Amino acid sequence: MAYQTILVDVEDGVAVIALNRPDAMNALNAEMMGEVRDALAAYAADDSVACVVLTGSQKVFAAGADIKEIKDKTFIEMRRADFVGVWEAIARFEKPVIAAVSGYALGGGCEIAMMCDFILASDTAKFGQPEITLGVMPGAGGTQRLAHAVGKAKTMEMCLTGRMMDAEEAERAGLVSRILPKDDLLDAAKEAGRKIAGMSMPIAGMTKEAVNRAFETSLSEGIVFERRLFQAMFATEDQKEGMAAFVEKRKPSFKNK
Ligand code: CAA
Repeated sequence: MAYQTILVDVEDGVAVIALNRPDAMNALNAEMMGEVRDALAAYAADDSVACVVLTGSQKVFAAGADIKEIKDKTFIEMRRADFVGVWEAIARFEKPVIAAVSGYALGGGCEIAMMCDFILASDTAKFGQPEITLGVMPGAGGTQRLAHAVGKAKTMEMCLTGRMMDAEEAERAGLVSRILPKDDLLDAAKEAGRKIAGMSMPIAGMTKEAVNRAFETSLSEGIVFERRLFQAMFATEDQKEGMAAFVEKRKPSFKNK
């Protein structure tokens, strides 16, 4: 499919979606987020894709919602368009999604990075929720997912003052899993993607589902959910293959069954 605002590439089971509106700091307009949704829908249906990397350019991941596009909208227009509802396609995607963030991830940019399963950051990354400086507040999960990731104190400070976190602070706070030199970021994200692509896809999907459940339910309910999924995995061929390969001292060959 031909896209106007994103670049896509699939290699070794890893699809890379690169946000590509360089003149607008990769601001997330309706066209771009529609294309991200369409690309994800295509990858959901494509068995050769096991994992997705969502990235921007080295300079900017994304500077948030497109302010020029939305500045004159009314409440009714925003509601009718279900503004940012489309973006949730990232959070709902059933295969693992890695965010590779270099440069600014502000407002909606920070929010879509947090919709991914984990964030790898370059040493130039800057995360922020500056919406309050525009007379609004985060609208794509920023107040909620940031609070889950880094706790109340930093979330309140960032959302109320617009202060940004650099990569080191974001790693210390638990927002990002690793920091890499900016020239190595995309390769590292693809490498992590290839590792995941070498696993059993249904098992990876259930693992992601179980971790995400930790944010939606009580500890005891989450433990039961995890245990049932773990037990259910013994109905898969991939569990038999994975454990047999360990005992036979060879690499497993998963069939996604
Ligand atoms: N929307 C639309 N255009 C944007 C944009 C955005 N979010 N961010 C940057 N641009 C545009 C600029 O207007 C500028 O365009 P022109 O050349 O036509 O003037 C171009 O991109 C380059 O930007 P700057 O000149 O500002 O570049 P800079 O290097 O000086 O600063 C920046 C970079 C710090 C990211 C700055 O552009 C900035 O602060 N951007 C806005 C960040 C922001 O407030 N994001 C929140 C958006 S609201 C939101 O996301 C709501 C939500 O929760 C869903």
